[in-house]
Amino acid sequence: MTGKFYGIGVGPGNPELITIKAFRILQETDVICVPKSYADRDSLALLVVKGFLKEDIKTLELSFPMSKDRKVLEESWAAAGESVAALVREGKMVSFVTIGDPLFYSTYGYLLAHLKNNHPELPVETVPGITAMAACSSLLQQPLVEGDETLAVVPAAYGIETLRDILEKFDNVVMMKVNRRLPEVVKLLKDMGLGNNAVLYNRCGYPDGFYVTDLDELDGVTVDYMSLLIVRKRG
Ligand SMILES: C[S@@+](CC[C@H](N)C(=O)[O-])C[C@H]1O[C@@H](n2cnc3c(N)ncnc32)[C@H](O)[C@@H]1O
Repeated sequence: MTGKFYGIGVGPGNPELITIKAFRILQETDVICVPKSYADRDSLALLVVKGFLKEDIKTLELSFPMSKDRKVLEESWAAAGESVAALVREGKMVSFVTIGDPLFYSTYGYLLAHLKNNHPELPVETVPGITAMAACSSLLQQPLVEGDETLAVVPAAYGIETLRDILEKFDNVVMMKVNRRLPEVVKLLKDMGLGNNAVLYNRCGYPDGFYVTDLDELDGVTVDYMSLLIVRKRG
């Protein structure tokens, strides 16, 4: 009997924000994928779900090197895909958990592509999750977009000139992965007169999570990788 591979979104970090479907599948899962080398990032998804897993669950370590070399990355996705495919052929339920939604800035997308292209006969299911930006706007009780407003979502590692252009064109902008570029981003926002239109949310949904609306308060503050910035030009 063939098993099945699941890509499961576990939401932004609070286990209460997991769907009932994800919860059920995780309880039945035989093998949980553990991505290595993004250890302190991807293991966050595992921390969220570890209370739901079978006691005798097996782990499958998948190696995703921190490389910008497309060939190195493709090889790692292919190797991971082959390991998953072998277990699914043995009849195992294999789950790959990701923070937020699995098809929104996640390694899962590459793994999924490998399986679709090379093992189209294997059953695969993707279970959506609550994105970090949806969780942040809910906790802030502030709409992301209303009426005719436009929204851009960008990884803030983009060049600062690209960000300026995007901020000029869109009503609202969500900047993911903003932590390392924060000083430059704050300066840009102030230069553009948007210093009072931004919220930085750090570790939304975690007990130590906080948000800042006065960007001057961020001077000298280290923010986590799990942080994003929302700009609402009309807000
Ligand atoms: C690799 S992306 C994952 C996005 C995720 N798949 C989603 O659906 O939101 C990682 C980025 O998501 C954002 N993020 C994830 N969890 C977060 C949280 N709890 N609070 C704030 N931002 C978060 C941060 O911008 C982080 O750099």
